[in-house]
Amino acid sequence: MSLRTTTDVDQAVVVLRSEGLVALPTETVYGLAGDASSAEAVHRIFAVKGRPASHPVIVHLPSAQALDAWADDVPGWARSLVEQLWPGPLTVIVPRSAHVMDAVTGGQPTVGLRVPAHPLTLEVLERFDGGLAAPSANRYGRVSPTSAAHVVAELEPFLDAGRDVVLDGGPCRVGVESTIVGAWDAVPRLLRPGAITTGQIRDITGLDVVTADDGVRTPGSTPSHYAPRARVVVLGPDSVGDLATLAGRFDQAAVLALAEVDVPAGLRRLAEPADADEYARLLYSALRDADDAGIDAVIAVTPPAHGVGAAVADRLRRAARAGDLS
Ligand code: TXA
Ligand code: MG
Repeated sequence: MSLRTTTDVDQAVVVLRSEGLVALPTETVYGLAGDASSAEAVHRIFAVKGRPASHPVIVHLPSAQALDAWADDVPGWARSLVEQLWPGPLTVIVPRSAHVMDAVTGGQPTVGLRVPAHPLTLEVLERFDGGLAAPSANRYGRVSPTSAAHVVAELEPFLDAGRDVVLDGGPCRVGVESTIVGAWDAVPRLLRPGAITTGQIRDITGLDVVTADDGVRTPGSTPSHYAPRARVVVLGPDSVGDLATLAGRFDQAAVLALAEVDVPAGLRRLAEPADADEYARLLYSALRDADDAGIDAVIAVTPPAHGVGAAVADRLRRAARAGDLS
């Protein structure tokens, strides 16, 4: 029996209520969702991903009104943030309420919460009427899926075709994971860059955003992550240099760069995004394409670091650390 792919929200809700797993679309990337109050469902999420148990998962909610069912003592600035930006590509890490399982939080006193902006998944959340634990629907450390086909290619061998299902909501609009903000005290901490920028957070809260690295476990922040099988070599937008010489060090190199970056004739291009938004949207499928085509090195030129460009550069640098040239 092969894994079922559906667009039927009712079917997805039935699976979730019986503690099965649903890979579902969000505006950022596809998530692997299960009932956040079911020990069995959460356990299976970790098993399917091959993810260490100490790494917490985000709980997805139908609206900002559900915040207080999962969190205690949410700072006022974080409340303003979610009221303005949810549904949207923002996760807040807030003090958890007592009923939230240790399996969800990795035993930490905080929980990650988010309301995703995808119509199908919002409908699932409203009908399910609870929280859905959902990490990105990829194996641990690998590239996040941005289409239903990516999920099937990545997780079919690990999901239970008699029980689990993939909800197909088309390609993801943003393409990189949500911005994560630590919101457990008076200081907003940026834990993972995404489409919501520090400038937006500053404007809404009136507070300076600290880029934190204070021992909080954010596996998306471990050095080697979001990695394809191909080696990734990253160049800044102002240090493109001699692409042909660099490419010559590999058997089959390909370039990923904005359309405005000149690439020598004869050198393969994986994609030519017009701007940082398009770069984010196609980043992960381009990395998958590179693996499928037997490319051994992706030479990626980062877009300028404004808007979602900072998140694209962050993911590329982490992918690159899996196969550092030095
Ligand atoms: O865009 C997204 O956020 C996607 C979609 C599916 O919503 N989800 C996602 O989940 O990227 P995941 O598990 O792949 O990445 C979530 C990150 C992890 O690095 C996790 O460690 C961190 O959020 N996180 C979750 N709860 C946390 C907590 N209580 N404290 C610190 N970090 C936390
Ligand atoms: Mg992930």
